[in-house]
Amino acid sequence: MMRWRRSWLACAALCAAALTCTAGARPAAAAGTTPAVHAALGRLWLGAAWYPEQWPESRWPKDLALMEAAGINVVRVDEFAWSTLEPQPGDYHFGWLARAIAAAARHHIYVVIGTPTDAPPVWLTNRYPQVLRIHADGRPAQHGNRRQFSYASPLYRKFCRDIVTRLAKRFGHNPDVIGWQIDNEYTNESYGPAAHRQFQQWLKRRFRSLAALNRAWTTAYWSQTYTAWNQIPLNDRPGNPGLMLAHRQFVTATWLSYQRNQLEALRAHIAPWQFVTTNIGGLGWSAHWNHYTITRPLDIAAWDDYVGEGQLDFYRNGAMSDFIRGLKRQDYWVMETQPGFVDWAPICNSLVKGGVRAMTWESIGHGADAVLFWQWRSALGGQEQYHGTLVGPDGKPEPLYAEIVRIGREFKRASQVIAGTTPRSQVALLLSYASRWAIDFQRQSVRYRQLDVLLDYYRPLEDLTHSVDIVSARAPLQRYKIVFAPSLNVISAKLARHLRRYVLGGGVLVLGPRSGMKDRYNRLNVERQPGPLVPLLGGRVQQYYALVSRVSVSGSMGRGTGRIWAEALTPHSSATRVLLRYGAGNAWLSGTPAALEHRYGRGAIIYLGTILNRRLMHAFVAHRLAAAGVRSPFGVLPRGVELMRRVGDGREVVIIINHGKRLRAVRLPYAMHDVLHPGRILRTVRLRSQGVAVLERPSIS
Ligand code: GAL
Repeated sequence: MMRWRRSWLACAALCAAALTCTAGARPAAAAGTTPAVHAALGRLWLGAAWYPEQWPESRWPKDLALMEAAGINVVRVDEFAWSTLEPQPGDYHFGWLARAIAAAARHHIYVVIGTPTDAPPVWLTNRYPQVLRIHADGRPAQHGNRRQFSYASPLYRKFCRDIVTRLAKRFGHNPDVIGWQIDNEYTNESYGPAAHRQFQQWLKRRFRSLAALNRAWTTAYWSQTYTAWNQIPLNDRPGNPGLMLAHRQFVTATWLSYQRNQLEALRAHIAPWQFVTTNIGGLGWSAHWNHYTITRPLDIAAWDDYVGEGQLDFYRNGAMSDFIRGLKRQDYWVMETQPGFVDWAPICNSLVKGGVRAMTWESIGHGADAVLFWQWRSALGGQEQYHGTLVGPDGKPEPLYAEIVRIGREFKRASQVIAGTTPRSQVALLLSYASRWAIDFQRQSVRYRQLDVLLDYYRPLEDLTHSVDIVSARAPLQRYKIVFAPSLNVISAKLARHLRRYVLGGGVLVLGPRSGMKDRYNRLNVERQPGPLVPLLGGRVQQYYALVSRVSVSGSMGRGTGRIWAEALTPHSSATRVLLRYGAGNAWLSGTPAALEHRYGRGAIIYLGTILNRRLMHAFVAHRLAAAGVRSPFGVLPRGVELMRRVGDGREVVIIINHGKRLRAVRLPYAMHDVLHPGRILRTVRLRSQGVAVLERPSIS
């Protein structure tokens, strides 16, 4: 489970003190005792987004009673409530929020407060139109939707600081408030004069001289040379690759300072036992900004986990969950998820019966400590009337509510068992935002989709190890026996040193296609690929090819095909082995190496220059894992079955889900306790479609 900002014990003590002071106002079950605080922080959280400002207060107790009956123990509130909190400039109305929090507490429900800055009130944008976000085509955003503010506007930030400071002062020590969410899904950048000026100033700080910038961006090309900082353009169109990369980094820096403005206001006034996070949108894979940078100063990572159209793809969702866990390399929150269906997909179909429960447990298996549904009840008006909810416009439960009740019951049973555990992997996939951006700016093949390439690696790794970390390429790597870096396009000298140290220290690094093409300024590496790692590999990419059709590939682990992208490699050291070769009849590629390996004691660097078909990829990954000594005691599972492990406190918790349509049986390597059916000990687990088992091995040596 996640670590909070300050140590556990200090936090429990503080909470206990706070609870004791207000014990009179608190629900009996949660009041007064340190174990209650412990339970509050070390438990699984089930929740919903609740918008009390949209309903008469007389209705709140009914909603909260229904929530409590479903086992909901946390609500997120307030993230769009600015016009209710401050209907006129300086006219603050926080009483309703205090009453809503107290009402929730009477039902043993804790609160996460969202700062309301994603939706400024109309008085603010009318009076100060300079705070409005400017689209890339120069049009200002309008009131009537959300996200109409400019993240770069100093004046808007002043207003944010004011409202957040006031909220923090008022609720920062409220024992029923366990955390804060800053804003809501940072999304749209601005292209107005303020952002433009700030971009130029940011570049000046970064490059110091125009000569350095001109060199880094090769501006002699097409006569782009700049002689003054204010000549540098800001737009969202394809352009100089160096400028485009710098713009993404600037966008990240600007969201970071936008966030810092609120974070400082919160930290100054809130208790150490309240956490601060933000909810990441874009189905996890959005790349507007660098998620590692933005989550670094936060206490926990949180994301909004939606399927949209179709059904759960457990590999994709598992990979995104592992990616979110990897942001801070600790457990995370699912701050929003879909109660059956959404209102924004091309076809807003519902997840199958049991699918919401399966998805919830999948998140827990991958390291979530909380799952909150968006939203509790259908708003009668507003843009999202059709979205799935747990309670309908009449205030009565929707059919899905029964499934939530079941999850609530199961969370209560499993909470204590899962407390103190977290997924722990021996293998990792490496990501870098610079690489993601650099490839997406110049894809060279519309079929080269980085998420698909990542999933090509993820699927066999997940099948064979049942636990994969997805972390920044700059993260500490010593704990991993083997790491895979598909699409690590940008390898700077510094990153190369980091990866080299890992290999020489006994780690196995597998680089995928397009690795090491670029340097930190998005310039071509003169060594060719993999850039500064060419000497370590003892070989390089001679030429890259975007493929129209598949090419044959074979090696000691089998034969198959390469798809979408193929790189012809050349070894230049006698210690560099060829692992795979392209077959004859493949034009430029015929007979050339498709994968190289150079060993260093227990460590090795491997370069795989193409995207293998699924079967050969599985064999390739299995081969590498076996060589690195990585195996899972659970072996190979039936198709459609996912198994996740959390370990900690000398215990192992295993969650098994049958995402397929048919009944499946999984034989366990040892007897395990059935957490959802206390008293049962299992050697084999049988699961129907959407079935979930939570198993515990109480002591592992
Ligand atoms: C999220 C957003 C929520 C709600 C939800 C609907 O992206 O944060 O406020 O709009 O989508 O699916």
